[in-house]
Amino acid sequence: MTISLPMATPDIQFQVTLNPAPLSDSERQAVLDNPVFGTVFTDHMVDICWSEKGGWHRPRVQPYGPIPLDPAASVLHYGQEIFEGMKGYRHEDGSIWTFRPDQNALRLQRSAKRMALPELPVEYFLQALKELIAVDGAWVPSAPETSLYIRPFMFAKEAFLGVRPANKVAFYVIASPVGPYFGDTVSPVSIWLSTHYSRAGKGGTGAAKAGGNYAASLVAQTEAAENGCKQVLFLDSEEGRFLEELGGMNVVLVHKDGTLVTPHSETILQGITRDSVLQLAEDAGHTVERRPITIDEWREGSASGDIVEAFACGTAATVVPIGQLKAPDFTIGSADAPPGEVTMSLRSQLIDIQYGRAADPHGWMQRLDQ
Ligand code: PLP
Ligand code: COI
Repeated sequence: MTISLPMATPDIQFQVTLNPAPLSDSERQAVLDNPVFGTVFTDHMVDICWSEKGGWHRPRVQPYGPIPLDPAASVLHYGQEIFEGMKGYRHEDGSIWTFRPDQNALRLQRSAKRMALPELPVEYFLQALKELIAVDGAWVPSAPETSLYIRPFMFAKEAFLGVRPANKVAFYVIASPVGPYFGDTVSPVSIWLSTHYSRAGKGGTGAAKAGGNYAASLVAQTEAAENGCKQVLFLDSEEGRFLEELGGMNVVLVHKDGTLVTPHSETILQGITRDSVLQLAEDAGHTVERRPITIDEWREGSASGDIVEAFACGTAATVVPIGQLKAPDFTIGSADAPPGEVTMSLRSQLIDIQYGRAADPHGWMQRLDQ
């Protein structure tokens, strides 16, 4: 069945084709009862085309399924691809909300600029989320710590093997009901320090949410797993001394006096979770420092008792305590360290806002189901 729904933005109208064979209510509920990160997807997806001549056009909601792609599509050869990660949260009254979607839309624009892709207008991005929730709202789980992970992404689809920015591009949004990224949210995780591999370099794409950055991180992530760690921490590529970020999260250290420190670097992703958690910390009177941090500072601060907590933060992971950092020749902390007090307090403040259990003083939440 194909119907057209009016949109808030008057000049863009999504064509909606409903999935003729959606999961039944009971099949969907079975998934929602036990969601495993990023493994099952909702019944629909959104796509919008872009071409050099026509700009953004043909916005659609269609049944979730394979994307037809020419084997010469330039994304398959040169990796011109970017994405975002966000979540839909079900509040107690059944309504569906998301967190700071304008920030994701703006970051997608920044990533697009860096990767020579077209910038999607913020209002199209927001409307795409609402269109998907309008048909797949029932996929937003309601159990504690669950949400609908929303993955907007954009790639070069022009069939052309010359190396230049593609003149045909696609933007899609897919979604997957999820539980905690690490399976359990409060147990501290072990992190592996990559001393051999870098994720990003000066002038490179580290600040963009580009697929290639994640491809570059995978071998180090594998090394982390071989060493019993859940994530990998990268250092700067020039001197190999300064903390950057984890493969899929930012990192924050907490001092004994309550000061929070986090890397300032041009080559890391400007995490929306980190920005929000640090804002909440500042609201609560903590001092926050965004500055270069060396690995020696963490080592010495931890040994002297000056650095008392560390946590990872990102949309998928929320806020997760770091128990230990393992390097080839030293270890900071211990795998059975209890979760830090500041970490857990910031974590619950953030998720209470996201799930509508606490006031939203900064106006971060935006409703998606109306
Ligand atoms: N750093 C990397 C490399 C990430 O993939 C993510 C996750 O999106 C983050 C940091 C955290 O960003 P955000 O809090 O906006 O999800
Ligand atoms: C996210 O947090 O949204 C990410 O993209 C990171 C990835 C580890 C899932």
